[in-house]
Formats: sequence, C-alpha cells, structure tokens
Amino acid sequence: MSGFVIRGGTVVDATGTRRGDVAVDDDGTIAAVGEGLEGGDVVDASGCVVAPGLVDLHAHLREPGREEAETVETGSRAAALGGFTAVVAMPNTSPAIDCASVVREVLDLGRSAPCDVHSSGAITVGRAGEQLTPMAEMAELGVRLFTDDGDGVQDAGLMRRALEYASGLPVPVTLAQHCEVAALAAGGHMHEGEWSSRLGIPGQPAESEELMVARDIVLSRLTGMRVHFQHLSTGVSVDLVREAKRRGLAVTAEATTHHFTLTDAEVASYDPLYKVNPPLRPDADVAAVRAGLADGAVDAIATDHAPHTQEAKEQAFDEAPPGMLGLETALALALTELDLPIEQVLALLSWQPAAIAGLSDQHGGPVAVGRPANLCVVDPTETWTVEPTASASRSRNNPYAGRTLTGRVRHTFLFGEPVVLEGDAQR
Ligand code: DOR
Repeated sequence: MSGFVIRGGTVVDATGTRRGDVAVDDDGTIAAVGEGLEGGDVVDASGCVVAPGLVDLHAHLREPGREEAETVETGSRAAALGGFTAVVAMPNTSPAIDCASVVREVLDLGRSAPCDVHSSGAITVGRAGEQLTPMAEMAELGVRLFTDDGDGVQDAGLMRRALEYASGLPVPVTLAQHCEVAALAAGGHMHEGEWSSRLGIPGQPAESEELMVARDIVLSRLTGMRVHFQHLSTGVSVDLVREAKRRGLAVTAEATTHHFTLTDAEVASYDPLYKVNPPLRPDADVAAVRAGLADGAVDAIATDHAPHTQEAKEQAFDEAPPGMLGLETALALALTELDLPIEQVLALLSWQPAAIAGLSDQHGGPVAVGRPANLCVVDPTETWTVEPTASASRSRNNPYAGRTLTGRVRHTFLFGEPVVLEGDAQR
C-alpha cells in the first residue's frame, strides 16, 4: 500500500491524547498528524486508539533449534496480531544465542517477519553460568539486551564482571536478569505455599526470586550499571525494586501478563498449562504486581511468550516444561484486568519497554511527522473470546482459552506496511 491515511481515531502516545488522523508516506514514515487529512487510501480507525506499536522485551521465538514449537516467522506473526511492532527474542535456543553467528542467524530470519525482530544475547556461554560471552561482537550487530533467561546468573562475581564489561562497551546495553537462585528453586514445579502443600507438588519459594533481585540491586550499586529485572512475580521483589528506584539506582523491571492475571490456585487442575517460571503466585503477590505496574515500580509489561508443543505440555505436571503463550493476548489482558487508563497500559507495553530495549529511535513513538510508522490501532471496546486454535503461534499452550476479553488490535503497521488489517495477518 502506498501513502494512506489512518482516519478517525484518537492518537495516544507519550506526549498525550488527541483526536487525529495519521497520514503515512510511501517511505513508511508519518507524513502528517491532524484532523481531516486527505490523500491516498483510507484505513478506518473510528472508535479506535492509534498508538505506537507495542514492544515486547521478552519473547521466546525458539529459533534456532526448537522449530517444532515456534519459528521466528510464526512467533512474529502472533506478535503483529497482538499489536507488537518489535520483540526481543530470548537466547535460550539451541544453540543458545551467545555469539555473533547465532545473533546473525536470528536477525536474518527476522528480516522477512511481520514484526521487527531484535535478538537478545546470552550473558554466559551456552547460558551455563561459567564464562562471559563476547558481548562486544553481539552489541556490534545491534544487541542491546543481554540475559541468560531461562536461568539466572548464579555466580555473583561473574554477574559483577558482566556488568563491568557491559559498562565498557561503546553502546549502552542493558543486562537483564531471570531472578532465580537455583539452589532454592531446584526440584520445585510451582510456588511453594499453601497450594503446593495441598497438591503435593514440590514448590519453589518466593525467596528464590527475591534473593537474586536483592543481590543484583546491590551489584547495580557496586558497578553503577543498570540492571533490568525480568518477570517479577512477588510482592517483596516489587518492593525491593521500588525502594531501589527511590534511592536513585538504575534499575528497571517488567512483569508478565500471567503474573497479574492468574494465581497458583490454578495449579489445582494439575494442568501443565499453568506451569511457568517464575511460578504463578498467591493473590497477595498478584495484587502487589498490579500495584507495582500502577505506581511505576514496574516499568513494563512483558509477555514471556513461551511456546511448547502439545506433546511436551501433555506430560505430567512435574515432567512438562514451564511456559505459556502471551503475544496475542497481552494488550487485551492488560486492558481488561488492570484498572488503569489506556494511556498507562500503552506506556507499559510500548514506549517504556522501547526505552529499556534501546529501541526508542524506531519504536514506541511519538506519533509525529518523520517518525517511522510503527503503529497499532486498537478498538478498546471490542469484546472477544480467546480461542487457542485460532492462534498464529505454532503452539497451543494458552491458559486463557474461553476467557472473554475487552480490547482488540484492529490494525498493525510496520514501517508503514499494514501487517495486520481488520484483525487479519497480511503476511
Ligand atoms: O516459563 C518459562 N518458560 N520461564 C522461562 O524462564 C523460560 C520459558 C521457556 O523458555 O519456555
């Protein structure tokens, strides 16, 4: 589609909310924003919010090596349908994304994707926690977020060295931590508490996460480097980050949609759909995560989209792998479940994660002349029912089947190209 106008919507970005059409140029940039714009084809946005595309700090796209569960193509199509224009692919692939050649492979796969695919890089070789990766060569290819996600970096000395090494790189990068002290979490398949005792399933204590959050706040102070905390799930973790920010430390945090919408009581079904790491927590933690999203202790909503095959998820609870899908439901869950204005939900899903991922030059808005047209158009009133078989993902491990949500992505534009129109993927 050459030049077109997204007509009749309400524009929402970090600069505010106003009624306005958005004209997009042939070159994929925003040509004009204002009322009554003419010229080219028209994309209807009446009754909708026109916003910067969403940015996911945390998606498992499974390539290379786990293509039976997801590919860059299928995962990024799910992302586009969910309103995302950029995702950061996690490194727990096979082989792990721990050197320039694997980063290059992921970026090459992403070139034809309907969403801008950015690669993270592992902090340690093979994510084994023993030896630092060549972060510089990965940063040179554009990697801005490093993590051993799937596992935390257990050795505090090695994490300190990683932060010091990262601080010397010529570009700003973020070290992100999957907070889990393995010695405490080992053998646990759900949150350790009342439900794990009742169900007879070994648990992982909340302290396994909290101890590493506390440790890395201290390491951030020691090194002066920013640490980003991935998928925070407990009240104490959120409190620790809130307090660290109050003291002026350079820390940021994300929470997943499942950690503010589901509790460990779901595990009573023994359904591995509800097995995830960090595990689903009790009501009080869910409330604390919501409070953190509301007051800014938590900066971003991430999906931790973690596809697994039917065979893998049909095993017994203690055998099944942890993880659940998230890209197609994140925005609607946030709009439906959080008692927050849409402006704040979009901040948590778009411009705040864009800044953490180092992507603000192209993603997260503002919706302004000259900026790349990476946009999503959302109908905040449309109600729909989650149907896992309708997903673009290769996997079906969606714990929200049958749930009715309010708020739906109608169109997504990637550098001016309509990759989703009227809720349908265009490629
Ligand atoms: O539940 C999870 N699944 N947590 C992780 O940290 C990894 C992820 C996966 O890769 O499946």
